[in-house]
Amino acid sequence: MRDLKDKVAFITGAGSGIGLAATRALARRGARLILADIDEARVEAAAAELRAFGADALGLRLNVADEDDWARAGEAAKAFGQVRVLFSNAGVGGGSGSFETYDPEAWRWAYAVNAHAHLYACRTFLGGMKALESPCHLAITASMVGIVPPPISVAYISSKFATLGIAMALRNELADTKVGISVLCPGMAATRIVETTAALRPGASEQGAAAQTAQSMGSVLASGMSPERIGEHLVRAIEANDFYVFTHPEWKRLAEPQIAEMMAAFGPSADPDYPGDDIDGLVAANGARRLNVAVRG
Ligand SMILES: NC(=O)c1ccc[n+]([C@@H]2O[C@H](COP(=O)([O-])OP(=O)(O)OC[C@H]3O[C@@H](n4cnc5c(N)ncnc54)[C@H](O)[C@@H]3O)[C@@H](O)[C@H]2O)c1
Repeated sequence: MRDLKDKVAFITGAGSGIGLAATRALARRGARLILADIDEARVEAAAAELRAFGADALGLRLNVADEDDWARAGEAAKAFGQVRVLFSNAGVGGGSGSFETYDPEAWRWAYAVNAHAHLYACRTFLGGMKALESPCHLAITASMVGIVPPPISVAYISSKFATLGIAMALRNELADTKVGISVLCPGMAATRIVETTAALRPGASEQGAAAQTAQSMGSVLASGMSPERIGEHLVRAIEANDFYVFTHPEWKRLAEPQIAEMMAAFGPSADPDYPGDDIDGLVAANGARRLNVAVRG
């Protein structure tokens, strides 16, 4: 989407970190901005900062995990203008410690915010973007750990794998539309995510070793990349219509052996008499015309 000037962009998690940085980068292109975040004070302050800079910006309180909040956000956005760029970015850490010790409520919350919310975002705006039949863009924040999982939170990693899966599946669905799609997969970024997670987490706060891990993660992330660089990089990717948006190339050396291991696992068929899956039939059964945009050649 080359021209962002005067286009309306809706950004979740816009009160802080990567969402706020991307919003600032969009403002530099002259986009009109709807900033949404569960933290009302922060999102209002961010919108005021952008208005002071001369941008047309509206701050909204939105819990991305709440369907009714999305209905209200959709109405507020309608009054502001037709959304052309949707950045579904809000996210939280998923909890620390061994998986079997997770609080199920915190597990459901991590999935609701990190993965399920993309459906609400798309239910609210994607239909209108498709119907416009002029360039629009959907960007979704996953993570590099949703590609190469280090030994950290299972809830966070798996919800980010889900997000990558949502983006990859949507890419096929959007292939014949004017809506471009990008999936942002940052490595470590110096944001408030550990703090926000602790403040928003439902149920009891983490204790013992899990609390210690969360604290150590805060220190490690403090030396991560500046979110401002990530936000600018993402907006360039939106302009270039790049699908994968990787900001931290140092992870490539970890991705390579992981992908090589997967490739090596393709051995002989479990049934030597089976002719092989009818993949064209599978595609046709789903009403699609093409196998997959990434492999169509
Ligand atoms: N910081 C990192 O190292 C890193 C790395 C890879 C991916 N990410 C992802 O980047 C995205 C942005 O995170 P960040 O690092 O900028 O953190 P951040 O905490 O600085 O910003 C996230 C914002 O999302 C908001 N938020 C949280 N839950 C919400 C909800 N239910 N509804 C609406 N808003 C909500 C928070 O209030 C906060 O303002 C997240 O999806 C995160 O998983 C972060």
